[in-house]
Amino acid sequence: MSRSDLVELAKRRGYFFQSAGAYGGVSGFYTYGPQGATLKANVEDAWRERFGVQEGHREIDAPTVMPEPVFEASGHLDTFDDMLVECPECGASHRADHLIEDETDIEEAESIAIPDVEDLIADHDLQCPDCGAELAGEPVEEFNLMFETSIGPGSSSPGYLRPETAQGIFVEFPQLAEYARNQLPFGITQIGKAYRNEISPRNSLVRTREFTQAELEHFVDPTEDVPDIDRVADVELTLYPADKQEEVEGVEYVTKTVREAVEDGLVHEWVAYYLGVGKQWYESIGVDMDRFRFRQHLSGELAHYAADCWDAEGEIDGDWYELAGFAYRSDYDLSKHDEYSDDDFTVFKQYDEPKVVERATVDPDMSYLGPEFGGAAGEVADALETLAERDRAAFEGDTVTVEVDGEEHEIPTEKTGFAVEEVKETGEHVMPHVVEPSIGIDRAVYAVLVHAYEIDEVEGDERTRLALEPEVAPTFVGVFPLMDKDGMGELARELTDDLRAAGFDATYDDSGNIGRRYRRQDEVGTPFCVTVDYDSLEDHTVTLRERDSTEQVRVPVAALPDLLEDLREGERTFADLDAPAPEQ
Ligand code: GAP
Repeated sequence: MSRSDLVELAKRRGYFFQSAGAYGGVSGFYTYGPQGATLKANVEDAWRERFGVQEGHREIDAPTVMPEPVFEASGHLDTFDDMLVECPECGASHRADHLIEDETDIEEAESIAIPDVEDLIADHDLQCPDCGAELAGEPVEEFNLMFETSIGPGSSSPGYLRPETAQGIFVEFPQLAEYARNQLPFGITQIGKAYRNEISPRNSLVRTREFTQAELEHFVDPTEDVPDIDRVADVELTLYPADKQEEVEGVEYVTKTVREAVEDGLVHEWVAYYLGVGKQWYESIGVDMDRFRFRQHLSGELAHYAADCWDAEGEIDGDWYELAGFAYRSDYDLSKHDEYSDDDFTVFKQYDEPKVVERATVDPDMSYLGPEFGGAAGEVADALETLAERDRAAFEGDTVTVEVDGEEHEIPTEKTGFAVEEVKETGEHVMPHVVEPSIGIDRAVYAVLVHAYEIDEVEGDERTRLALEPEVAPTFVGVFPLMDKDGMGELARELTDDLRAAGFDATYDDSGNIGRRYRRQDEVGTPFCVTVDYDSLEDHTVTLRERDSTEQVRVPVAALPDLLEDLREGERTFADLDAPAPEQ
């Protein structure tokens, strides 16, 4: 299969196509057609079921536009950049690291520093892919990927389209922690649009400017919470650790179960847990596990917030693409929002028994500080309090020095009221750590389609089929009358209505011969077809045909809904059904 075969099929069969084609289209924006929108919704539902319901996490729905301070705190305004190089001849913009990866043997060029990237462009005589002009000597610059907007009239309130759904969870942490009764661990999921002003969007759904993310932020107490590894202990992982990427010629994987990966210290236990969940989920939606791996980020490649990260990657046309990131974000995000906002981003952890602890306090003599420091007296008092908490030894001499607004002030220790007291504490404030499985839904949909695309031969004829998993296939069953006459059309239409009422995505088709109708549904990816014929009018049975094997079996109309339900849920396979007969 070539990439263009799939893109052509996707357009013709209503999966996806470039948006606003009537106006020339804009790269990086795609519309899902009727089949694609349902496939995507089914993939999202499967994600909700696996990462939400089965893990006991709750979902929120935050805005896609957020005010500037959120992204100052998160670090996105400063550091969410890609490397841009512009063609001196035609003005086309390119991602410098992608040019290097495309034209040399170097992988993960994102982790290379800009001056080295400029050297590599010159050393390899890289040219503009659009017009062929030399790019050597052209400056490589950081380009921020955030889409900026103005909130309300005027420009006094800048806002940004969120580049990840995660920040919508982090900024609401104080409310969410309250909802969780301040009990760690707890997880919050969110699925929705994210926006990145990509320098050069490419490979259809793989790199777009508007896409859907499905993220889980699992808040844990790093000192005591551990994952329930037993739930995924035996899931086998194909791992591509950083050292194998850096030190070994060619590609060498390490295959380990989740438990082994944790016990060997290869993967952080929380990350390993979600690699197990992630693998189960990707397999359930139809990603081919022979074309799937987890690759550890190299140190220069880690996002500004990540302490460790493994990407789920899928192979497409011989290249590996990132499908998801599984990151240990430590307390980076919550600490930043705690520092930049007026809210408290910690949780109060109650002790089982109150503890008696020593606490250093101050009770400054304001009749001294007032005349001495005037309007700054209050700030000096606050600085003394902070210093007492942090550094008791600072109060051992005759004077204490504090800094306020960059200026040092010396205060006689006797005027600070410094004392060390024994107090009973009932708990402590904990800054939770975050483990984050971040899944790109569009890339999951694309991998599912690419891995489902197959060409085989049926009765000497070549056929194209999408071998989609029944769980995600947008159309579940096609219903055909042998011919639309003698009551067969009415019965097939009635059956279609009944199947829809029973919750199946059913389509009715009476155009062309039966063979053509089967091929049409094979190409759309419909797992089952039902044909109503003359016998159906007499004995109330129909032919049920399976897409992949093309085998057929005769079943009573009345049994059809239960049987299809079993097939969809994986309770039975087609081979379990009675006496399959060869295709007519
Ligand atoms: N909150 C973490 C985060 O956003 P990321 O690795 O930047 O991490 C997570 O993005 C996932 O989102 C990626 O693995 C990918 O599947 C998807 N994604 C990122 N940029 C994308 C783009 N431009 N087009 C389509 N999907 C994208």
